[in-house]
Amino acid sequence: MPKVILITGTSTGLGVQIAVQAAQAGHTVYATMRNLAKRGILDVAASDAGVNFNVLELDVQDSASVNAAVDQIIANEDRIDTLINNAGAGFVRTTEQASEEDVAWVMDVNFMGVVRCTKAMMPHMRSARSGHVITISSVGGLVGQPFNEIYCAAKFAVEGYTEALASYVTPNFGIHFSTVEPGGIQSEFAANVLKHVEATGGIAICSDTCSR
Ligand SMILES: NC(=O)c1ccc[n+]([C@@H]2O[C@H](COP(=O)([O-])OP(=O)(O)OC[C@H]3O[C@@H](n4cnc5c(N)ncnc54)[C@H](OP(=O)(O)O)[C@@H]3O)[C@@H](O)[C@H]2O)c1
Repeated sequence: MPKVILITGTSTGLGVQIAVQAAQAGHTVYATMRNLAKRGILDVAASDAGVNFNVLELDVQDSASVNAAVDQIIANEDRIDTLINNAGAGFVRTTEQASEEDVAWVMDVNFMGVVRCTKAMMPHMRSARSGHVITISSVGGLVGQPFNEIYCAAKFAVEGYTEALASYVTPNFGIHFSTVEPGGIQSEFAANVLKHVEATGGIAICSDTCSR
């Protein structure tokens, strides 16, 4: 049976491909992004694949934006069967070099973003007593990686959050939770990491005596 699917972060990369393949499989796709001015790549992919999406604004760092998108889909469809938490951002800076603002931002996009979207969806899935929340984590959510501890911590948080929800929500309400742990994917991810690091002051070249 076709599902109503909400996908976050569909302006580039994996989100575009998930949206295309879900639409090709016959599902009703709500492809969301925080900046609708960036919908060009998605539109071209949809046109090339001969599929249609509903495109909505959704910023995972803004609860009002998340709730507005969910409300809009419920008003249109009366249900959301599947949430795909795909939006995320990488980060490379060691603990000594990362500011508290850096860490808060990485956690907000990658962990709190998942919590905000899941929280907005839960009442609807609970009353339907069905649903599936699929979160794109990372191999970095399973194995700590050098120079990547802040991002890994956010993805580990996603793993623990999902596992805990699955332990009691699934048996009581029939809502299923999955995490996906990709390795490297060709996308805008690495370029965005560099852009963010550059925009926030670069990476200090440290010796034992340097401080930041
Ligand atoms: N690429 C990899 O090697 C890799 C490996 C493992 C896991 N992952 C995970 O895979 C997922 C998709 O990443 P990707 O590789 O497709 O990278 P990407 O091309 O950089 O796409 C990331 C998407 O997330 C969106 N996003 C960022 N902040 C957002 C916010 N506040 N609200 C809504 N959307 C936001 C981006 O939107 P903007 O265009 O507006 O920035 C973009 O659409 C992420 O969760 C990432 O952690 C990626």
